[in-house]
Amino acid sequence: MPSISRKGSSMPESPIRKLVPFSEEAKKKGVKVIHLNIGQPDIETPKAALDAVKNNTLTVLEYSRTEGSETYRDKLAQYYAKHDIQITAKDIIVTTGGSEALAFALNSVLDIDDEIIIPEPFYANYNGFATAAGIKVVPVVSKIDSNFSLPPIEEFEKLITPRTKAILICNPGNPTGYLYTREEIKKLANIVKAHDLFLISDEVYREFTYDGKEHYSILQEEGIEQHAIVVDSVSKRYSMCGARIGCLVTKNEAVIRTALKFAQARLSPPTYALIASEAALETPQEYFDKVKEEYQARRNVLVEELETIEGVKIGNPKGAFYCIAELPIADADDFARWLLEEYRLDGETVMIAPAAGFYATEGLGKNQVRIAYVLDKESLKRAVHILKQALTSYIG
Ligand SMILES: Cc1ncc(COP(=O)(O)O)c(C=O)c1O
Repeated sequence: MPSISRKGSSMPESPIRKLVPFSEEAKKKGVKVIHLNIGQPDIETPKAALDAVKNNTLTVLEYSRTEGSETYRDKLAQYYAKHDIQITAKDIIVTTGGSEALAFALNSVLDIDDEIIIPEPFYANYNGFATAAGIKVVPVVSKIDSNFSLPPIEEFEKLITPRTKAILICNPGNPTGYLYTREEIKKLANIVKAHDLFLISDEVYREFTYDGKEHYSILQEEGIEQHAIVVDSVSKRYSMCGARIGCLVTKNEAVIRTALKFAQARLSPPTYALIASEAALETPQEYFDKVKEEYQARRNVLVEELETIEGVKIGNPKGAFYCIAELPIADADDFARWLLEEYRLDGETVMIAPAAGFYATEGLGKNQVRIAYVLDKESLKRAVHILKQALTSYIG
């Protein structure tokens, strides 16, 4: 039989999706599964975006322009200007989700066997994208005890080798909810300048910051224009995950030229979704104010409820809509599977994402899970109650 590639064999499974067959099995048996595992918000997509697709008069669903239409990119530049980021349409390539922007960024700046430093735990699919691009992830550990703050600069510098090409951060962070301070961004800027590296920042959760804290983008930081690459997406911003539209933003012309070649190979982003995304840019500030308020309230409920469980440790998220919880168990993979296969509380159970897959360091995160707070407050309360009872049964 012909064999599959080594690259294919080493592709990691997504810790967010790998337990889906078990949840499907439970649902078939009539069990209600409450999903804490995936960042699929229940927030309504802005009506203007949905209406733009419904009401359009297209007669041929054509390819769109490889880098996205000039009109859409001009409007995106205006969106960034509102966030104190000065860029123009030529600094943007529209992509099929933030996922494709990540793939373009990595493939444009790293060669096979090159290294990228990423604070861990990190968005699990970074492992997948790195494997697909043949590059090595070098993790720098951030700890739950210090609420996942950035490790000291020396920790980064120790890891830099002649093969290091970039540092990748996620701000605000998935899965930790960590929000980088301006000072931390400045520190990272100093490192990338001193060692001539790229700084890639995944800012798909830019709008979701809590406790009055503000997001500071690497594109606001002066002096790293040739180093900074931002990955962005409409998925979470407008609760439009199914649209599959994102973008890559950089002032580095060589990166744009290179990423454009990758973009040409996949032809164009999806046309209907572009129509929706362009209309979504008209979304008024009140929408974000309301959504942010809702997520902050959900975070508060989740943190308060989790804190009532003995032996559970949590990082307090300041942004995005996830948190990492350390549980009083040895193996979160086993526990998450047991919840789906065996545990029921009045016909219900919960699905959580085991956190080991969010680390590159073998053995880390084994007793941690990622919880997404994308459900309403009552469902979250119920879910944590189920988790609490389940832990008692599991530990015995
Ligand atoms: C941190 C982060 N980056 C990128 C993505 C990819 O988003 P999309 O491809 O839907 O834009 C996600 C999705 O959950 C994410 O959490």
